[in-house]
Amino acid sequence: MNHLIAPSLLSADFLNLEMDIEMVNASAADWFHLDVMDGMFVPNISFGFPVIEKIAKKARKPLDVHLMIVDPDRYIGRFKKAGSYFISVHYEACNHLHRTVHEIRNLGAKAGVVLNPHTPVHLLDDIIRDVDMILIMSVNPGFGGQKFIEHSIPKIEQLKALIKETKSPALIEVDGGVDLENAPRLLKAGADVLVAGNTIFSASDPAGIILQLKNI
Ligand code: DX5
Ligand code: ZN
Repeated sequence: MNHLIAPSLLSADFLNLEMDIEMVNASAADWFHLDVMDGMFVPNISFGFPVIEKIAKKARKPLDVHLMIVDPDRYIGRFKKAGSYFISVHYEACNHLHRTVHEIRNLGAKAGVVLNPHTPVHLLDDIIRDVDMILIMSVNPGFGGQKFIEHSIPKIEQLKALIKETKSPALIEVDGGVDLENAPRLLKAGADVLVAGNTIFSASDPAGIILQLKNI
């Protein structure tokens, strides 16, 4: 599979969000990555339904919604309704993960499970067959522009082996500190989807960076 690029709008210009959405629409990017933070699961608050509903009206690519919220079951229906294609929940935030991922799928969205940097891949053994994507956090979630954690690379390799062994359909997504230096190594390790915020939106030519990430 050719890899996918998902720019994270957390690093976009919120005063000119429409402009950045149109840039992504016209670019080589595949998805919009939307980071929802509740100030409880992570020490930051980002945006919620009204913003996502507006983004959905302008976005011409699927919305990849990353929920960094406590007890996400409460809001899954609303995130689906707001226009989500993928809904990813944190392993660490769900008491009944199997129920949660099936709820996401029953609503007609694709289900992703996210692992924080400290959460080992082997904890996915009993859920890997039920998910459409695993998101490996390569920074501690909560903020854009952080330094990439190198240990994410062996985790991706381990996850790739688990997916192969179990014949799971799950994609591997990587999020946090992705740049042009580590992207080739992430893809070599087995990543299918690269999220990038700061690398794209702090550049003078964001669409050019997206194209470079896509053409690796
Ligand atoms: C961090 C978010 C990321 C973030 C990535 O909690 O999940 O999606 O926006 O930003 P960069 O690429 O700048 O690390
Ligand atoms: Zn994210």
